[in-house]
Amino acid sequence: MKIVTGVSGSPKVYAAAIDPGNSTLTDLLTTAELAEQHRFDALFAADLLSFGSQGAIGAQEPLIVLSALSAVTEHLGLIATVTTTFHHPYNLARLFGTLDHISNGRAAWNAVTSSVGEENYGDAELPSPEERYARAAESIEVVNALFDSWGPDALTPDGRGGAVLDATRVRPIDYAGQHFTVRGPLNIPPLPQRRPVQFQAGQSDGGVELGARYAEVVFTSLSTLDDALSYAKRIRTRAAELGRPDGLPLIFGSLHATYGATESEALRLVREREEATDFEAGRRTLADMLGGAVDLSELPLDKPIPERLLPEVASVHRRRGRVEIFNGYARSGKTLRELIIAAKDTGHWAAAGTPEQLADAIEERYTAGVLDLIGLGGLDDPRTRDFLLNGLLPELRTRGIVGRDYLGATFRDNLELPPLPPPHSGIASAAS
Ligand SMILES: Cc1cc2nc3c(=O)[nH]c(=O)nc-3n(C[C@H](O)[C@H](O)[C@H](O)COP(=O)(O)O)c2cc1C
Repeated sequence: MKIVTGVSGSPKVYAAAIDPGNSTLTDLLTTAELAEQHRFDALFAADLLSFGSQGAIGAQEPLIVLSALSAVTEHLGLIATVTTTFHHPYNLARLFGTLDHISNGRAAWNAVTSSVGEENYGDAELPSPEERYARAAESIEVVNALFDSWGPDALTPDGRGGAVLDATRVRPIDYAGQHFTVRGPLNIPPLPQRRPVQFQAGQSDGGVELGARYAEVVFTSLSTLDDALSYAKRIRTRAAELGRPDGLPLIFGSLHATYGATESEALRLVREREEATDFEAGRRTLADMLGGAVDLSELPLDKPIPERLLPEVASVHRRRGRVEIFNGYARSGKTLRELIIAAKDTGHWAAAGTPEQLADAIEERYTAGVLDLIGLGGLDDPRTRDFLLNGLLPELRTRGIVGRDYLGATFRDNLELPPLPPPHSGIASAAS
């Protein structure tokens, strides 16, 4: 199993924007160096394109942050979350192509369709999930065709550290789809990895279809083992139908861990966090998890949400995957108070305990075949860092669940991914 840690625009980054004395890039550099020293496999940066949404304030541009961190690392994969809804695929190919070159083959693209941000891109309304996913599929097709637009022998080393270009071996892609018309070729030489590792996040039917068709790794929020088992079955069955290699896509889940030297210490920290909950603000966060159209402002905290208020997933315009998760929680009988507390983890997997107990929970998913990459955060917090580096990681390595060193030069090699499909042979249009 591979281990990933998060680097995103933490509030400190935001603070630094107005306090140059507190150099925040140093914090991120320290995190990256520590992660590589302890043989983490990758750094992950989420991304949100709107001021108001949860966790978005201070979220700086992932590709720029990871490019900076690529200069102080040699092995770590660099996973940047970038939306297909508000970017053009020719730019995406240039951005990720450049990251792959400057990192010597460690770029990875976590493709998302966004659920916020339309106000910043001239859209009166966020396009529908169907339209966002159709555009996402075309984006990935175009980007892959651009990466494949150089023949393997287009460049011949000239023996003086340079190369001779045979432009006849570089061909246009002539892509004509519903959303994009792109002539190409890409003006960046073939990538060290040929293509960045393709991640995807989004768990609605549209998300599962996109992940099954294109992703090598899917980033998920699966709070229970049962959710993970049914999701894994769903996406791998579809991937097999589409002729994808066995075992793809790999499943990446982040664990929101609460550590304790004893179980009671960990549970006390969970209790204290719950008691500190601002339930009025929590009503809004939960309403957002439920698609944003339900009004929870007057409901009693210690009763379940009436079934008639739970949204139809198909009617949800923003994040259907999260609504599926929180409808499930609500139908399991959780009270509004319990749902508000659960919304703090935004549907992600949360567990508390000693490092050994957390290793048990991880091992359970790993041996069930539903956890290939795990996201473990907190390297920037001294207490969590100590439990993670001196407790959980050694325990996972002792059990042989996590490796002790990198397996190859590129991120793709280190993930032991199956070979990529043969290069595109010039695609006319996705619609054909
Ligand atoms: C685990 C997970 C993480 C996600 N991270 C992001 C993110 O960082 N930025 C973003 O714009 N969307 C993110 N998304 C949401 C995607 O944008 C998704 O395409 C969109 O919300 C629709 O999601 P759905 O298919 O679950 O309905 C994430 C989704 C999941 C499941």
